Amino acid sequence: MSPDKKKILTIVGARPQFIKAAVVSRRLKQADWVQEIIVHTGQHYDPEMSDIFFSEMDIPTPGYNLEIGSGSHGTQTGKMMQAIEEVFLKEKPDCVLVYGDTNSTLAGALVAAKLHITLAHVESGLRSGNKKMPEEINRICTDHVSDLLFVPTDTARQNLLHEGCAKSSIAMSGDVMYDAALFYATKSNDDILSELGLKPQCFLLATIHRAENTDSPQRLDAIFAALAELAHEIDVVLPLHPRTKRLLAERNFQNPNPERLRIIGPVSYLQMIALEKNCALIATDSGGVQKEAYFFGRPCITLRDETEWVELVNAGYNRLAEANKDKILAAYRHFMKNKPEFKGSFYGKGDAGQLIVSRLHAYLHR
Ligand code: UD1
Ligand code: UDP
Repeated sequence: MSPDKKKILTIVGARPQFIKAAVVSRRLKQADWVQEIIVHTGQHYDPEMSDIFFSEMDIPTPGYNLEIGSGSHGTQTGKMMQAIEEVFLKEKPDCVLVYGDTNSTLAGALVAAKLHITLAHVESGLRSGNKKMPEEINRICTDHVSDLLFVPTDTARQNLLHEGCAKSSIAMSGDVMYDAALFYATKSNDDILSELGLKPQCFLLATIHRAENTDSPQRLDAIFAALAELAHEIDVVLPLHPRTKRLLAERNFQNPNPERLRIIGPVSYLQMIALEKNCALIATDSGGVQKEAYFFGRPCITLRDETEWVELVNAGYNRLAEANKDKILAAYRHFMKNKPEFKGSFYGKGDAGQLIVSRLHAYLHR
């Protein structure tokens, strides 16, 4: 590496981080002042939760795969910190880049901050107000030890100011997931529709993986009861997260209607956006999928009690239905009768990746 190039280490580990990092990595590759090394913690490791995103989205092969795998919060985060520290001490990066709110984010952030390495957080400032969510703890801690806070929305910016973060550390970038949706939309793998025998606009797409739903038998049962009921009216396609698969198996879940409640394995990003573009509506507890519903003009039933993406709820594009069967069915009927007219641009102009790289350049050459 040329001695005057800056070195950025990017920490990723979970599915949504591969998608977010794909956007910024593409821009970093185009810049002549920087070398990026990707560090994969191994939090997600099944090929359909990890490798497929690197190959399909052309993400640089990680320089390190720490192969930490699954575990309790303390074990997983602790093992990650130990392994990440070794990498940082060896590589001596100028900057560490972390994304979102997973345990990989927190581990990378804490190690960088304690080694006094410049730390940049992409998708900063989001808050649900619910500290029982592991993600909320990860976000708050990461934001408060970061030097550069890239916020996707003005609400996120306000949240940081409210918590006393320095105004000068906050940069409005817009949302990197919007960049991804725009860039990959024309490359979507629509074959999945014919493979599953689905007609455009005639199915509901669902995803469920949040701990608050999977780890509560009552919530999980209520959500699946609602999906089974909806399957009497519309085909339901559910690409199942491995966490949810494990917990359903533990509960001896039997699919009451496999013909119309189609539970499949996790799909690739290009398959996922094909499903999102072509479905009638979405039901999800995913943060990323709520935004993609908006990017592709699909109403969204959110299977949570609160959301970080409040602007979508305020605009009437997204309804919070908790894990409440009646509320889920009511939201479905509402959206089937009143399809919202999608307007506005809540998440920037699709140039978040470029803005982030420009700001990093300015900060690291100040
Ligand atoms: C993690 C993030 C969550 C994010 C989600 C994205 C934390 C605390 N949570 O949740 O914020 O929304 O990723 O998908 O970081 N498993 C496999 N194979 C894999 C990965 C996981 O079988 O490749 C199973 C294991 O049983 C594991 C469980 O899924 O125990 C949970 O995985 P983990 O990475 O701990 O959390 P997620 O629920 O995936
Ligand atoms: N996604 C995917 N395949 C799937 C389910 C989701 O490619 O089977 C993508 C989805 O399009 C979005 C991201 O994964 O870009 C969201 O990740 P996830 O729901 O796991 O996590 P969250 O966003 O809730 O943290």
